[in-house]
Amino acid sequence: MNACSRPRILIARAVFPEIVDRLALHFEVEANAPDDIWPRAEFIRRLQGKQGVFTTGGERIDAELLAACPDLRICANMAVGYNNFDVPAMTAAGVLATNAPGVLTETTADMGFALLMAAARRVAESEHFLRAGKWDRWAYDMLIGQDVHGSTLGIIGMGRIGQAIARRGALGFGMKVIYHNRSRLPEADEAAVGARYVGKDELLKTADHVMLVVPYSKESHHTIGAAELALMKPTATLVNIARGGIVDDAALAQALREGRIAAAGLDVFEGEPRVHPDLLTVPNVVLTPHIGSATVPTRRAMAALAADNLIGYLTQGKPVTPLNPEVMAAGT
Ligand code: DGY
Repeated sequence: MNACSRPRILIARAVFPEIVDRLALHFEVEANAPDDIWPRAEFIRRLQGKQGVFTTGGERIDAELLAACPDLRICANMAVGYNNFDVPAMTAAGVLATNAPGVLTETTADMGFALLMAAARRVAESEHFLRAGKWDRWAYDMLIGQDVHGSTLGIIGMGRIGQAIARRGALGFGMKVIYHNRSRLPEADEAAVGARYVGKDELLKTADHVMLVVPYSKESHHTIGAAELALMKPTATLVNIARGGIVDDAALAQALREGRIAAAGLDVFEGEPRVHPDLLTVPNVVLTPHIGSATVPTRRAMAALAADNLIGYLTQGKPVTPLNPEVMAAGT
């Protein structure tokens, strides 16, 4: 970039036109209006000479890419999750990483409850049953499921979204809420959301419904596999709104098929957008295509926050939600 030219940025996927227009007030913008999924080599090629990139959570930013893109200074994710970023590699390369926390908390918690209700009350199965013309008479046990109100909700992962789910469970549905997390919340926060800390095994054995809200990392890979599913009640439901890979999808499909747990609701999948074929053939699972944050106001807020991070950092050195602020302290 020469002294008087504006910073150049790449927007990796199609986003709201007004966000592109806003970014264009500050930067030379290369956008992706057709929403092409660029092969990695093309993504790297398009990043040449760019100081910033607006990512949406699916673009891998690692040491190899950073070495090939020496002008890059910031990658702004339009997502709270950032397992597409190798943050230590970004820090080593002097590249700032930002995500979009806070703005999607309540919306994603709503989705957790939507899946929980749909799975426990067999809503999707019931709809398929009706549409298939199978509803010809009443039966005492037709599509009977499990209660959500008054039951025990087990939450694994107690960050912002976990706490928003706990509040819904405790205050809205009269649930007893237990949780497991890397670190225990301060007592006042536990009281505010009405949740009690327990070990993971106790949670799995006790909960009527288990909700996963833990970020993806090597450590959280397959937090729920065959051994964990075996601890759960046969009447239990499992909901994953966190990330693919937190659950061993093959083991879950088998547990559902064998009735070892009652039902599941999944918004995220290992290797998405591919879905494990066994999950597609079991009836007692509700499947949605990673739409946890997909409401108009929330997606707008997420995109605006990613844009604020690019503008804040590249024009004033002041990002809003940096993940590796040490990059700034190092003055790189
Ligand atoms: C996030 O923000 O991490 C969501 O999963 C994306 O919708």
